[in-house]
Amino acid sequence: MGKPKVVLGVSGGIAAYKACELLRRLTESGHDVRVVPTAASLNFVGEATWAALSGNPASTEVWETVHEVPHVRIGQAADLVVVAPATADMLAKAAHGLADDLLTNTLLTARCPVVFAPAMHTEMWEHPATQENVAVLRRRGALVIEPAVGRLTGKDTGKGRLPDPEEIFEVCRQVLRRGTAEQDLAGRHVVISAGGTREPLDPVRFLGNRSSGKQGYALARTAVARGARVTLVAANTALADPAGVDVVRVGTAVQLREAVLKAAADADAVVMAAAVADFRPAEYAGGKIKKKDGEDPAPVALVRNPDVLAEISADRAHEGQVVVGFAAETDDVLDNGRAKLRRKGCDLLVVNEVGETRTFGSEENEAIILSSDGSETPVPYGPKEVLAEAIWDRVTQRFTSRRA
Ligand SMILES: Cc1cc2nc3c(=O)[nH]c(=O)nc-3n(C[C@H](O)[C@H](O)[C@H](O)COP(=O)(O)O)c2cc1C
Repeated sequence: MGKPKVVLGVSGGIAAYKACELLRRLTESGHDVRVVPTAASLNFVGEATWAALSGNPASTEVWETVHEVPHVRIGQAADLVVVAPATADMLAKAAHGLADDLLTNTLLTARCPVVFAPAMHTEMWEHPATQENVAVLRRRGALVIEPAVGRLTGKDTGKGRLPDPEEIFEVCRQVLRRGTAEQDLAGRHVVISAGGTREPLDPVRFLGNRSSGKQGYALARTAVARGARVTLVAANTALADPAGVDVVRVGTAVQLREAVLKAAADADAVVMAAAVADFRPAEYAGGKIKKKDGEDPAPVALVRNPDVLAEISADRAHEGQVVVGFAAETDDVLDNGRAKLRRKGCDLLVVNEVGETRTFGSEENEAIILSSDGSETPVPYGPKEVLAEAIWDRVTQRFTSRRA
């Protein structure tokens, strides 16, 4: 089998330079990339850069190498088309099926998954014309990544920024891995908590845990590739914001509860992958706690934190909301997991065994997904995104069975 063929469409936005990094990631990870820039984009990055970095010719027009019929062949041969950045103009052309250059022709002839990463000023993004074009493209099966919020061209900030190239690459990787543009979470809002809470003792110390947030981030990335609108409530993670995800940063269990409840109000599914502290110090010392000569330290009194999983399971924002919990256990993993599923009242509980060097911070995981209908699905040791996909499979089954 040859290398997967990727078409990188580049349209005329200021973020075109970031597509060089995306191209690098794609070629270095073994993809055969054909860059198809628009004429406008060549004002930002020249053809020579694309040809040199990709090792393939980079043409903008259908009138070059006509004997190869590039306006048809490039799209037909592709395993994935990704347009980054996608301008407002490109989204409009794609939505209306215009075909006045090589990229727009390629979009019409491609039968593989198509990913758009829009980037533009907030006003252009929010304009009803753009929003309707995006809705049309999504309805037809394209994956349109929500732009990030941040610094735009010039001095303004807002929604419309191109997500980081490595995160667009992650979306491409997920879509290629799935081999389909099918989006069974399209139109769904999912809320995921990730990371580990920190409960402060004083301004410099906290009680924390070893959760890295990688499983929650894998859930967020895979949900984006399946078409969901994703809110990620991230507690003390040091990971880059996944593309297309609304990230809400929190520190403590109390903050996490507030953010999850707020986001869950219109969510179809809530997946509580964060390690939320059960207890917090009863008192917070406003200044750094000092060592005193000849005195033992005072014991730390703890109080219970709110049980967010139990609360959200008992008090769902709407009938049909699917709630998923995680159980990190060190002993009697399965028995403890079954008991926790009953106690918490969630629909699914993902049980995994943890230890100082097991699961936390690692790229792999192994788990059993327990369901309130009594079924138990073992997911063998493998990348955290494989477990994430298995969780979404169970969640989408719930959506369908509840509708039936
Ligand atoms: C400096 C500059 C920056 C631009 N940045 C963007 C942008 O980020 N997003 C966008 O949609 N259009 C942007 N435009 C406008 C597009 O270049 C213009 O709509 C063009 O016709 C797009 O052509 P294309 O879609 O064929 O590439 C920018 C224009 C200029 C001059």
